Amino acid sequence: MNDDYLLKTSHLFCKFPSQKEWLLKDVSIDTKVGEIILIKGVNGSGKTTLLSLLCGIIPKEIKAEVRGKIHINDVEISDLTLAQSSPFISMTFQEPDYQLSFPKVIYELAFGPENLKISRHEIEDRIKYVTELLKIDHLLYNDIATLSYGQKKLVCIASIMTLSPKILLLDEPDDGLSFASVEQVKKCILAYRNEKLFIIATTKSYFDDIADRKITLS
Ligand SMILES: Nc1ncnc2c1ncn2[C@@H]1O[C@H](COP(=O)(O)OP(=O)(O)OP(=O)(O)O)[C@@H](O)[C@H]1O
Ligand SMILES: [Mg+2]
Repeated sequence: MNDDYLLKTSHLFCKFPSQKEWLLKDVSIDTKVGEIILIKGVNGSGKTTLLSLLCGIIPKEIKAEVRGKIHINDVEISDLTLAQSSPFISMTFQEPDYQLSFPKVIYELAFGPENLKISRHEIEDRIKYVTELLKIDHLLYNDIATLSYGQKKLVCIASIMTLSPKILLLDEPDDGLSFASVEQVKKCILAYRNEKLFIIATTKSYFDDIADRKITLS
């Protein structure tokens, strides 16, 4: 993959085995680096499903019937394993406990870049930068089990930022956050906006002012 990342879906359809009708019908999205795109829609409209499809979790880990194509530049996501695609496109889960898997915050934030053999110095810089932006630097050595729901959501966001994929999919990043924490998340997104593509699923309007466009699922 070269550096001119572009995520494109063509005529995407998806339904789970228990569903008779297509949940996602003919979704075609064209994106470029530098964009912030919001995925809107009522509860159950398929926002989480769409993000899971984009990064390949559906159908690789969660079975569903899928039609259509998803490309990152000229590479089809279905041709990559999740290990191959996650350095380029990754997702934070709506439910933080499904994402967090280490006992302490610092391990959670270091794991992704360590796996990619990023230097110790660079990992430390990434962690310092993002935890200061999100104002969770005081939690670095805390046990994840002791964090509040909102603090766990912030750790999930910090964790995808330290992994630093080109395309970041954030599933309800504002859920459970105070107004001040949402502002910090926005600041963090804006700090990376020029070099990344953000696709954010949210039912609320907190990110409307920084978004380039909205896609509403019905
Ligand atoms: N793994 C699954 N198996 C079967 N059905 C599923 C699965 N995941 C989601 N669904 C169903 O697909 C529909 C869309 O779910 P999804 O979680 O994508 O919606 P959403 O827009 O993210 O909702 P919310 O705003 O509540 O987060 C729902 O009816 C849900 O019950
Ligand atoms: Mg959802």
